[in-house]
Amino acid sequence: MLADKDRIFTNVYGFQDWGLNAAQARGDWDNTKALIERGQDAIIEEIKTSGLRGRGGAGFPTGLKWSFMPKESKDGRPSFLVINADESEPGSCKDREIIRHDPHKLIEGALVAGFAMRARAAYIYIRGEYIREAETLQKAIDEAYDAGLIGKDASGSGYDFDVFMHRGAGAYICGEETAMIESLEGKKGQPRLKPPFPAGAGLYGCPTTVNNVESIAVVPTILRRGGDWFASFGREGNHGTKLFQISGHVDKPCVVEEEMSIPFRELIEKHCGGIRGGWDNLLAVIPGGSSVPLVPAEQIMDAPMDFDGLKELGSGLGTAAVIVMDKSTDIVRAISRISYFYKHESCGQCTPCREGTGWMWRMMERLRTGDAAIEEIDMLQEVTKQVEGHTICALGDAAAWPIQGLIRHFRPELEKRIHDHNAQFAEAAE
Ligand code: NAI
Ligand code: SF4
Repeated sequence: MLADKDRIFTNVYGFQDWGLNAAQARGDWDNTKALIERGQDAIIEEIKTSGLRGRGGAGFPTGLKWSFMPKESKDGRPSFLVINADESEPGSCKDREIIRHDPHKLIEGALVAGFAMRARAAYIYIRGEYIREAETLQKAIDEAYDAGLIGKDASGSGYDFDVFMHRGAGAYICGEETAMIESLEGKKGQPRLKPPFPAGAGLYGCPTTVNNVESIAVVPTILRRGGDWFASFGREGNHGTKLFQISGHVDKPCVVEEEMSIPFRELIEKHCGGIRGGWDNLLAVIPGGSSVPLVPAEQIMDAPMDFDGLKELGSGLGTAAVIVMDKSTDIVRAISRISYFYKHESCGQCTPCREGTGWMWRMMERLRTGDAAIEEIDMLQEVTKQVEGHTICALGDAAAWPIQGLIRHFRPELEKRIHDHNAQFAEAAE
């Protein structure tokens, strides 16, 4: 279990004040100038050494991503950092806790990361529903400006750096990085085709890096304590500490910072008081937010909670939003509800996603009630394959994968529903 002294988010439960004085007492903004004076290349190298991988779901190596940003400005164009606080993945609620209780970690991280990638400013795009959090964040930004920590000659470093907050309007798809950029530009939030990646052509056509809130908020601590310190947690390719968000049928749902690669059972025992009704009552777990396939109980128990461990099980760490389902769960209904979510949130730009998400949801609803033919299970699987990998952004995959997971692990349950439904009809007809 992670020792208290190794926790980055020491105020994640909000026991202390989030304001500047309290944040400084916890070590934030401590000689930030010295961090900046290390220089851009040294900062990026330290982040590479730390092994930090993006905490927004995709797990792309953060230092590598920063290194894609140009070292020289082309035609006088500025570079930008965009921070993704549009946390909308069902099950995810960690960025919310950072913004509520530790906003200065995020703002200091924005400055240092922005400097490392030669960005002129950071735009924090916050989920529209996070109303109180947006108020807190804006107050924290104002405090940082008033104290000279950001703005002109930020923290006395000689570097000018602005931080702007932008509120979203409730569309899940605006969490996709290129849709977020479109939205920031004042357009309808629809993903762009990649490449070009944002580092080549991003916000207003300028070089841009989009990073998740947690990825940026851990940066100052990594620089202060060293990349090797961060890399000492977890295992090869899966380093650091991580905020896990555990919801569903555990005794105590929580958000907790733990060591990457902690086994599932240990995570739940130590922080959530176990599974409701005991371990024998566990049915399945969605380990990384609604976009990743579920893992049945017997496979997840001893699994390391990290990118590679969960990938081996055909799932993923995603945002580490761990949704626990016990045997009282109607698993078909749960996945059908997730299908409805993706149908609702599809931006409609590409046909396989626009049409496919509706198809998949309607077929899931038939399977939920059992009012389907057995062959439709394979037909549904086929539809998911037609959507997966054939769309502009990852939403199409995210809609397909949970259904694939259900069919892979719970086909007998789907078949039983159809048989039960048919038997009921036959009985009624007699
Ligand atoms: P992605 O794998 O396409 O990209 C990840 C990042 O790496 C992006 O910033 C991308 O620009 C960069 N990248 C990838 N390949 C690159 C290359 N060759 N050159 C330069 N940059 C490159 O994943 P995406 O679509 O950005 O994110 C999908 C993930 O987001 C899913 O795994 C899901 O778990 C997560 N997600 C999280 C949500 C949340 O609320 N935090 C909401 C919805 C999805
Ligand atoms: Fe829009 Fe779906 Fe296409 Fe993504 S995959 S661009 S959400 S239609």
